[in-house]
Amino acid sequence: MRKVLYPGTFDPVTNGHIDIIKRARELFDGVVVTVAINPGKTPLFTVEERVHMLKESLKDFDNVVVDSFDGLVVDHAHEVGAVGILRGLRAVSDFEYEFQMALMNRKLAGDIATVFLMPHEKYTYLNSSIIRNLSSLNSDVSEFVPSIVMEALKKKFS
Ligand code: COA
Repeated sequence: MRKVLYPGTFDPVTNGHIDIIKRARELFDGVVVTVAINPGKTPLFTVEERVHMLKESLKDFDNVVVDSFDGLVVDHAHEVGAVGILRGLRAVSDFEYEFQMALMNRKLAGDIATVFLMPHEKYTYLNSSIIRNLSSLNSDVSEFVPSIVMEALKKKFS
């Protein structure tokens, strides 16, 4: 059973993240999507809300599970029995940050590989901040997020 761990802030999950997860589930036996508690960020949604939105958005995928973690991503990879960490690469601008993280994670745990997948081109300009920003200004983001996220955003900003 080759599992991969997909960590992120997911504040909120977008169709770009879902695209990466769909690609990964074709390549691995299982995907563990994990919500990170990142002290460097002040999220709009609580960890519980983010986990719930991910679970609902991914409920039709039998080899995908969702959880959360606090600490080092490589430790969580070991805890769930993942062979690697999955990250999405959208544009060249992602590369430097991802490169640094992947090398540090390799230094911390040589047995955990980092795997990069590219989402569909139509998602390359998408991130969660843009979604939060558009929603706060009452712009329709239904094209970019699962319906449960759309509803949650409406509620937050109503
Ligand atoms: N589609 C749309 N948006 C995407 C995307 C995709 N396919 N892939 C990434 N993004 C966006 C995210 O929405 C997020 O947007 P935002 O900053 O506007 O909110 C942004 O890209 C950053 O992505 P994210 O995956 O959430 O990364 P992060 O910088 O918050 O890092 C961890 C998350 C979990 C990888 C990192 O914080 C971590 O490893 N933490 C644990 C501590 C640790 O182990 N540290 C040592 C690591 S060297």
